[in-house]
Amino acid sequence: MVVVYILYLVYFAIAITLALSILLYVYQCDLLYAAGFPTGSRSVVAKPSQYGLPDKEEILVTKDGVKLRSYVLIQRGDDVAIQSPTLLCFHAHTGNMGHRLPIAQVFFKKLGYNVVMLSYRGYGLSEGNPNEKGLQIDAQTVLDYVLRHPILRHTKLVAYGQSLGGAVAINLVSKNEEKFQALMIENTFLSVPLLIPHIFPALRHLVYLCHQTWRSYKSIRYIRHIPILFLSSLKDEIVPPQHMAKLYKISQTGGIKVWRDFENGTHNDTCMQTGYFESIAEFIRDNVWDYSD
Ligand SMILES: *[C@@H]1O[C@H](CO)[C@@H](O)[C@H](O)[C@H]1NC(C)=O
Ligand SMILES: *[C@@H]1O[C@H](CO)[C@@H](O)[C@H](O)[C@H]1NC(C)=O
Repeated sequence: MVVVYILYLVYFAIAITLALSILLYVYQCDLLYAAGFPTGSRSVVAKPSQYGLPDKEEILVTKDGVKLRSYVLIQRGDDVAIQSPTLLCFHAHTGNMGHRLPIAQVFFKKLGYNVVMLSYRGYGLSEGNPNEKGLQIDAQTVLDYVLRHPILRHTKLVAYGQSLGGAVAINLVSKNEEKFQALMIENTFLSVPLLIPHIFPALRHLVYLCHQTWRSYKSIRYIRHIPILFLSSLKDEIVPPQHMAKLYKISQTGGIKVWRDFENGTHNDTCMQTGYFESIAEFIRDNVWDYSD
């Protein structure tokens, strides 16, 4: 009798583990790429003009045929625009590019940068479904667009990624370093498998099922020359700040590494911390902006 009970228990445990594994395997894209949050993010995307910015939307088509929405904000006057750095902005795992317009507003109006932003596939009004390969193609598509653009191709390029966008930016720069002048990453992680035990402790034994890995700890090593700015919120409740500290340590770039942390910052409010935009402005002024002409 007892033996039968134990057998049932074992079967039960196996069934639960299997069910969890299947759920994790099938739904990890939905967990990781929360494009539907906040509610309405797939149908409503704020326009640049709501923030006093030029309403310039481009539809970019990726090599696998996905139509992406992108905002291309160029400083007025070709001479001015050409001398200004261009930020390629890669957003975090929720919302869409419209949610980041308040940040773009500071970059564009206060700091005088050109700004290119996109909603990844499956985000905002962009087509398709998000996954690691796809987002990497999306980032490359934006870079290729900028490199063909009559004005932007003459400017200095900076990749800027927040959280998941940091992983996107690191990956893009690691494959195209010669095209970039600098990289700025914020509250991003070493890899998804290394992050999961923190976010979902119950799943810590199932991380081998992760097919969305974003191994930034590997790709960042391929960046050998350009300056990198590390922006880290020390009260980040989603990505433990040790991930950023470790990325800083691992990075072998020959360019300068600048570390800025924000003692009261959490995962999503770093840009509201004192000194945030000043840190970026200083980093760009010292490492990117060209005063020679
Ligand atoms: C994150 O912060 C941005 C900018 O402050 C805000 O627009 C957005 O709604 C926030 N997202 C979440 C999920 O809290
Ligand atoms: C962080 O918060 C504490 C307590 O509210 C405050 O005393 C401190 O000045 C803040 N630090 C910064 C850098 O804003």
